[in-house]
Amino acid sequence: MPDLSSTFTGLRFENPFMLASAPPTESDANIMRAFEAGWGGVVTKTIGLHPVVNVKGPKTRFLRAENSGTKLSMAKNPNSTLVASWNWELISDKPLDWWIGKLANIKKQYPRHMLVASIMAGSGNDKELHNWQTLAKAAQDEGCDALELNFSCPHMDRIDMGSNVGKDKVLCSVVTQAVKEVAKIPVWVKLTPATANIVEEASASFLGGADAISSSNTFPSLPPIDMNTLDFEMNVEGYCSSGGLGGPAILPLSMAKMAQLTKAFPDRAFSGIGGVSTFEHALNYFLLGCGTVQVCTAAMLDSAIGPNVIKQLTSGMAEFMEKRGFASLEDFRGMRRDRVVAHSQIKRPEAREYHGGYEEEHEGYARPQQPQPVG
Ligand SMILES: Cc1cc2nc3c(=O)[nH]c(=O)nc-3n(C[C@H](O)[C@H](O)[C@H](O)COP(=O)(O)O)c2cc1C
Repeated sequence: MPDLSSTFTGLRFENPFMLASAPPTESDANIMRAFEAGWGGVVTKTIGLHPVVNVKGPKTRFLRAENSGTKLSMAKNPNSTLVASWNWELISDKPLDWWIGKLANIKKQYPRHMLVASIMAGSGNDKELHNWQTLAKAAQDEGCDALELNFSCPHMDRIDMGSNVGKDKVLCSVVTQAVKEVAKIPVWVKLTPATANIVEEASASFLGGADAISSSNTFPSLPPIDMNTLDFEMNVEGYCSSGGLGGPAILPLSMAKMAQLTKAFPDRAFSGIGGVSTFEHALNYFLLGCGTVQVCTAAMLDSAIGPNVIKQLTSGMAEFMEKRGFASLEDFRGMRRDRVVAHSQIKRPEAREYHGGYEEEHEGYARPQQPQPVG
């Protein structure tokens, strides 16, 4: 069996596969089941200090494409293929006190598995920043191996929480720095994919002292509208609100974000998330330069914590490494990072050149021809 281990932000993972912060990691029982099943690490469901009340009714549903047609719907249909998850679930509705003792117990029973605490607070004033520190200290006192700061939850009304932090470069820096002031363990930052240039928020987080960036959380989205009822397929008394898209549909979207990140910071640590259910999917993130990969939707659909998913991920990785003669993840991590280039650098047919939409540069003092004004 090849060595599947990965050293990420100084932590040794038996394998680079983790359960992402979400329902699969919402309780100690789930997390311990996940470790038994073989996951190298988990990120807990995000823990906060503010009151959390979820919407009435289901918090997650799955979008399916009909196999023999064009219909895209959340209705259960055996003749369909899963395309995405859609959720409007908030962070853990269990208070910090509920987690205290349980995290320590998980770590005591599974010392070699990596336990990362996802945390979230407001960030509008010093008291709120202190809340981040309270959460960080509590998790590290419990023996957690790292922290993941949630700057990415897409359904927060508060302007100083979740993805609203991830959209504000100053807050990315300030909150990361506040946590770093008290943290003795690595601090990862989970950024929202809903910004124009994720490199800017990553840069701000690194400036604040982040040890790694995780990406992506779910993408802001709405459920489809049913043609017969004219209601959103997910609604409460007719009303709907922006939620998050995850699962297969977001793999290419998240890869694009990750390629931007790993190209901008080739020497930094990145955890890839989005649309992974097999090693073939995870490989995309490794080839772009990620040192760990996280999974949510696929695990939710496989006995809540993904026992079959993790089996396939590890056996798929072992098989791939044996076939290619790779001794460790480092042998192929980042191998395709530099293949993502500007559009104008992609070869044109018949040796014709393209200058990114600009006129060809002229030699000497001649200026490229400007379009003449009409009329
Ligand atoms: C129901 C649900 C709840 C989630 N809750 C959290 C959360 O509390 N904190 C967080 O950082 N991400 C949360 N996520 C996002 C996932 O961790 C992950 O980033 C996202 O689902 C993309 O991965 P996937 O394509 O494997 O599902 C949640 C996702 C889902 C579907």
